[in-house]
Amino acid sequence: MANDLFEAARAAQEKAYAPYSNFPVGAAIRAGSGAIYTGCNVENASYPEGWCAETSAIGQMVVAGDLRIVEICVIGSADMVITPCGGCRQRLAEFSSPETRVFAAGPDGIRATYTMADLLPAAFSLEQDRSE
Ligand code: THU
Repeated sequence: MANDLFEAARAAQEKAYAPYSNFPVGAAIRAGSGAIYTGCNVENASYPEGWCAETSAIGQMVVAGDLRIVEICVIGSADMVITPCGGCRQRLAEFSSPETRVFAAGPDGIRATYTMADLLPAAFSLEQDRSE
């Protein structure tokens, strides 16, 4: 993975609004056009109304007119591998292929690499042909 995606995710993480969990997350998507879109988690005093970094980045991508995710890097601070939550996996799948790469990073760099097929096998889709 090119370092620019990691650096973009790290810069987005610094903008995270996470006063309730103290768990800042950043995400950076490299889209079909080559552009990078970033997002951070945005929490809320009404806890369930907050949303994830990946969801923020998808919004940035779509409003810019890009609709294909080539790869995404997600970065957290904890001493663990941060992977997208179940809801975000479904949102990412909307704009991904099974081969789309998902990099899970910490402040030190990439800790694990997945594909969307790894993270969301047998994904729900209205279009996908599952016969193959
Ligand atoms: N979070 C993300 O932004 N992305 C993930 O992949 C996992 C979790 C956020 C949601 C919440 O603001 C905080 O991390 C703790 O769950």
